[in-house]
Amino acid sequence: MQGKITRTHQSRIERALADQAGVVLLGPRQVGKTTLAQDIAEARDAVYLDMERRADRQILDEPDLYLDEQMGRLVVIDEVQLIPGLFGALRGQIDRRRRKGHRAG
Ligand SMILES: Nc1ncnc2c1ncn2[C@@H]1O[C@H](COP(=O)(O)OP(=O)(O)OP(=O)(O)O)[C@@H](O)[C@H]1O
Ligand SMILES: [Mg+2]
Repeated sequence: MQGKITRTHQSRIERALADQAGVVLLGPRQVGKTTLAQDIAEARDAVYLDMERRADRQILDEPDLYLDEQMGRLVVIDEVQLIPGLFGALRGQIDRRRRKGHRAG
């Protein structure tokens, strides 16, 4: 990308991920949320899913089946607000991961 702006939020989000089970990236349209999330995902063991993509939505049709396989890995879910039912599954996933010793990230 030409003239890429360095994001001071990147280190803030990475620090939050070191402490918290989940981090929400919320902001106006076109400010660079997806780009920032993908940059963070690229720098670590992570998967990226976009709820605007049908194939990615299908992967999360059975959230626990898929997310159990991603134990210990950062899962980025872009446009998560499109699937409100996911939040309950994510809460359960966070609890499960905590019990397995994955308290953050
Ligand atoms: N760090 C950056 N420096 C310069 N341009 C950037 C940077 N991050 C994103 N952009 C550009 O800004 C535009 C919007 O980026 P992006 O799609 O990441 O934003 P978004 O917040 O996810 O948008 P949306 O609300 O539509 O999901 C794109 O054209 C992208 O190339
Ligand atoms: Mg986006």
